[in-house]
Amino acid sequence: MNRACPLALIITAAAMVPAVLGLPGVAAADARLQKGPYLMDVGQTHAALLFELTEAAPATVTITSQDDVVQTLPSEESDFHEVVATELEPGTAYDYRVEAGAATAEGSFTTAPAAGEGPVRFLVAGDNRTNAQAHAAVTDAMRRRGGEFVVNTGDMVANGAVDEDWQELFDVERELLRDTPLFPALGNHELYLYGVGLPGFLKYTRVPTALGGRETYYGFDWGPVRFFMLDSNDDWADTESDQRRWLREKLAETDRSETIAHVIIVLHHGPVSSNRHGGHPDMMSTGLLQLFRRHEVALVLSGHDHAYERGDAHGVKYIVTGGGGAPIYDRNDPLPFQHRFEASHHFLAVEADRERVEVTALRVDDSVIERCAFNRGERWTCVRPESATADFVPSEPVSSTRTDDGTEPQSGRGPSILALLLGAGVLLAALAFLARVVARRRRHRRGRHD
Ligand SMILES: [Fe+2]
Repeated sequence: MNRACPLALIITAAAMVPAVLGLPGVAAADARLQKGPYLMDVGQTHAALLFELTEAAPATVTITSQDDVVQTLPSEESDFHEVVATELEPGTAYDYRVEAGAATAEGSFTTAPAAGEGPVRFLVAGDNRTNAQAHAAVTDAMRRRGGEFVVNTGDMVANGAVDEDWQELFDVERELLRDTPLFPALGNHELYLYGVGLPGFLKYTRVPTALGGRETYYGFDWGPVRFFMLDSNDDWADTESDQRRWLREKLAETDRSETIAHVIIVLHHGPVSSNRHGGHPDMMSTGLLQLFRRHEVALVLSGHDHAYERGDAHGVKYIVTGGGGAPIYDRNDPLPFQHRFEASHHFLAVEADRERVEVTALRVDDSVIERCAFNRGERWTCVRPESATADFVPSEPVSSTRTDDGTEPQSGRGPSILALLLGAGVLLAALAFLARVVARRRRHRRGRHD
């Protein structure tokens, strides 16, 4: 028969007191911040604050505006917290303070402006996985530039199933995301492998729901701009997929909106790219760009290829921006509709009002790759890097084979000039060989007759 030690019983009973009384235990009191706090799903009247603790503990988030306490939000004991402040005012700056266990943290955010109001400023980057040092350089440059929110074109982590990779993301971007809401598109690396990583994406992200969709594809409005954050990992050969039907329906709704001036599509695998991965064949063969054109989509932002590329395909302006930190790809098979390509780590700073969208592509040393803009329904104009003035002039494709009537190749990747020259060379050599064979046969025939 076991006899319990009286001292052990006393220690055990003492340890149970906090739980019985609903008080944080010793472990909870020692809890520190593991990830965050970081901002997601910020809208006109709400904001979500997410953070992970080293131990489960209850938390309190205090929202203030001009030093007045607006809300005090308790969160039940857990090692992961999603705290949502509601009933906020549009276009208003707030501060917040997180208290949990031994952890405290402070930050700030600004809610989205009232419907249709602007101008708005935001940052775009993608493919920041794998190289923390390069990722940090891009992130620091983004912080220096500043913006109301960050759009990520996907592949935020090397492997969505590996918690250390999520930790690296939130370590590198801790200060940026503490004060700047993140709106991510789902990359292929978040799914690694065969969808095993998806629970990590679902755990660490919270996306807006006002426009429907799912956690892997969604939309949101910020001032005069509506964003559709698509899941490019979906089956884009299926024109009746749930996502495709949702997209068509929401684009049609947006056409009738009086507050939305620009639609921006964000997705990881882009319809077109001249780099290593190329464009998405199923998106091209099923007319996705033509759908965008019909609904006057202002801009398509993608990643997956680790470089900067800007162009205008089938009348739809696009930018591939995958230079957030992952190893840079320098392959460039210039598409007939490509205007600019650069293989470097970079990000975008975008400003938009009701009439105009201006995009500045920046390297990590704050130098400008290019500064381009367009008015609603009009073409790209850019400030020439070599120009002494800041005048915007029309931007042209690097290739002269582009036509303006939408008759560009259906393929996402056009043949390179080198490939065309090689092909022509092989054809000429074959013709010359054939001519020599025919001439030899004729001589042989004449010789026999002679
Ligand atoms: Fe990717």
